[in-house]
Amino acid sequence: MGEFVRVEVDGQIATIRLDRPKMNALNAQVSGEIAAAAAEVSGDGAIRAVIVYGGERVFAAGADIKEMAPLGVAEMAAYAARLQAALNDVAGIPKPVIAAITGYALGGGLELALCADFRVLGESAKVGQPEIQLGVIPGAGGTQRLPRLIGPAKAKDLIFTGRHVAAAEALAIGLADKVVPDAEVYQAARDMAAQYANGPAVALRAAKQAIDRGLEVDLATGLDIERLHFASLYATEDQKNGMRSFMENGPGKAVFE
Ligand code: HXC
Repeated sequence: MGEFVRVEVDGQIATIRLDRPKMNALNAQVSGEIAAAAAEVSGDGAIRAVIVYGGERVFAAGADIKEMAPLGVAEMAAYAARLQAALNDVAGIPKPVIAAITGYALGGGLELALCADFRVLGESAKVGQPEIQLGVIPGAGGTQRLPRLIGPAKAKDLIFTGRHVAAAEALAIGLADKVVPDAEVYQAARDMAAQYANGPAVALRAAKQAIDRGLEVDLATGLDIERLHFASLYATEDQKNGMRSFMENGPGKAVFE
């Protein structure tokens, strides 16, 4: 349990809760605590889905500019490496992960949200990569994960201008998956998480890894990854249960452990 990042478990769903007033700025300590939280939820088999949440007011306004501003080149390289590694740990959580976003998700805050599988935004949420306005560029995955999600031209528009994107536009460009009234963001994320929490955990992990690894490699290698994961699922009880249930009861009726 970190000072600024808590893991709250409720049933099969864990919430990684950022809580560093006023804006959940991601300083070096928060980076370390995010990595620890990701390891904790990844390693606990009872947790079947994860929400990343910054509270009712703000998701995260980015890396801590006051901490970062005085650093030299070498220090900054190490700082960026630590934040990138922490966010990689979030992206690598082997279960469905949903970012529940109210208020601002800017810079490193949006980069954290990009490491989730899905993003639920409140109606008045604002997201963006404003680093260009600080004379720098996104440094925690934004130049890589954003274009993979929304395409290069839209990503360049956001990164070149640094503008804040409202929830409706985020939905239209695929940066948000769902927009709900602000007060309903966390519950909407829980509902989405609950949908996956009852699924076959090993197959969900295989699907996530096949998709995410596949996006990093050529098609032939991706198909190899897919096929190996597919075959390995024949070692699971879920496969036996899922296919038996289809043959006995028809589609969509299987209940997984
Ligand atoms: C440190 C921050 C901060 C940040 C806000 N604050 N964002 N402190 N780092 N990223 C602080 C403000 O200084 C202020 O502190 C308090 O939070 C409230 O902010 P205000 O600006 O007064 O509030 P508001 O007018 O509502 O504007 C909110 C805001 C704005 C739109 C989020 O604060 C803003 O634009 N922040 C910077 C966003 C940004 O550029 N993010 C990218 C960071 S770079 P006081 O003490 O005055 O109350 C990055 C790189 C990642 O993320 C990669 C690194 C390797």
